[in-house]
Amino acid sequence: MSTLMRATHTFTKLLSPSSRSFSLRPSASLPTRHQMSTEAENVIARLKNSGLLRSQGLIAGKWVDAHDRKTIKVCNPATGEVIVDVPCMGQKETNDAISSAYEAFYSWSKLTATERSKFLRKWYDLLIAHKEDLGQLITLEQGKPLKESLGEVSYGAGFIEFSAEEAKRIYGDIIPATLPDRRLFVLKQPVGVVGAITPWNFPLAMITRKVGPALACGCTVVIKPSELTPLTALAAAELSLQAGIPPGVVNVVMGNAADIGDALLASTQVRKITFTGSTAVGKKLMAGASGTVKRVSLELGGNAPCIVFDDADLDVAVKGAIAAKFRNSGQTCVCANRVLVQEGIYEKFANAFSKAVQNLQVGDGFTEGVAQGPLINEAAVQKVESFVKDAISKGAKVLLGGKRHSLGMTFYEPTVIGGVKSEMLLSREEVFGPVAPLLPFKTEEEAIRLANDTNAGLAAYVFTNSIQRSWRVSEALEYGLVGINEGIISTEVAPFGGVKQSGLGREGSKYGMDEYLEIKYVCLGNMNSN
Ligand code: SIN
Repeated sequence: MSTLMRATHTFTKLLSPSSRSFSLRPSASLPTRHQMSTEAENVIARLKNSGLLRSQGLIAGKWVDAHDRKTIKVCNPATGEVIVDVPCMGQKETNDAISSAYEAFYSWSKLTATERSKFLRKWYDLLIAHKEDLGQLITLEQGKPLKESLGEVSYGAGFIEFSAEEAKRIYGDIIPATLPDRRLFVLKQPVGVVGAITPWNFPLAMITRKVGPALACGCTVVIKPSELTPLTALAAAELSLQAGIPPGVVNVVMGNAADIGDALLASTQVRKITFTGSTAVGKKLMAGASGTVKRVSLELGGNAPCIVFDDADLDVAVKGAIAAKFRNSGQTCVCANRVLVQEGIYEKFANAFSKAVQNLQVGDGFTEGVAQGPLINEAAVQKVESFVKDAISKGAKVLLGGKRHSLGMTFYEPTVIGGVKSEMLLSREEVFGPVAPLLPFKTEEEAIRLANDTNAGLAAYVFTNSIQRSWRVSEALEYGLVGINEGIISTEVAPFGGVKQSGLGREGSKYGMDEYLEIKYVCLGNMNSN
């Protein structure tokens, strides 16, 4: 994903609060704008009533403004309307949040695993009890269709539930001693204060996937959600307080991404940074963390190949490729970025796929039946436009879509482009939008070579009816996740993360717990003395 995308605004200041609103200003000519506003207004009123529309940061259990009262606007990407102003926080508030997390660490880490587990279970129950509210909040600030948002609440809450269960299974070890009067133990202990920097494309799930295991292991956190979508994070934090999680264990600061990031990196009290966002920002964080030798987990950009072999079931391949490509309007790091199609099935697949893509309804995420919401902002649309233009100028053919949607704003037509080649931007970089480039290939070897010809290595998808081929290709793909005959494979119970420049570490599953644990070796000597 490029420097313009997701949490990538971090450090770049490309989308600073002042420059951000220009692109989101509503256009008077939008046909359905009035209806969209009414629905959004109803949602805002309902959320205010439920107490989940928070508009301040959370430090040491208190809702606070920025020390200088500066604010930024959070806008609905479907309409451009301002939802609410939130504090534009920076270095000072981040340092306060770090101190609060540092202080809370002492008591939180001393609780028994069962006690921490109970708090997390209660938080999970509250997230699920407020599924509708949270889903609406996600659609309001992020734009994805409500059905997808509700799915994100279940997915996101799942990380808290899983962590509540896993908290009780953080075992140490006893190692057979090499000398008779010694005993050797391995203890697993919490890393300490964690800085969690999260993107806008999953305003809830990318937070819970970090905070769940961190808290289960005994760590405390300072969360920096994207300044584009901080409201879901604040609502989730409110529910953490209602669940009885003690003040200071969960802190949320948002605003000036560069200042917040720098404060987290500079602090010796922060022992780990966990980040989901662009590869460019991930590299900066990795370099910045070296100053205090912090641990890092990075879930970065992808360039997912979706390989359709001649022997695939056409319907399964079309359905799977659509799910892999068009989830969240193409704005996920595991979205299929290149659809590699074997020559023998190319025409049939291109026709069936384009027909199915044509049926994807575009619109405000609150409208029933909508499958594709707006892109997050104007910069995102411009990026998509430049990639499509590049492909056309190099000989690719638009099979469907290929331009902004008549709804205006940041809506873009679901697009299929045929005859895409390796040298085109659509193949080289993550488009992060609703554009499916089709690349023909001849042999299995060629498909594997094309698929691996990238610095990214997050997700890959394979469609084939051959068991042998599915094993061969899965083993040969240089990726952290592989879906066979399936387009959506993310789940809290499986390890999520990339190889090569797609990141370090894993999130979710039992493997995700290790990211928040230190291993301590204890040698007990002189066993025979009193
Ligand atoms: C992401 O886009 O960063 C995460 C997608 C997922 O969890 O499936």
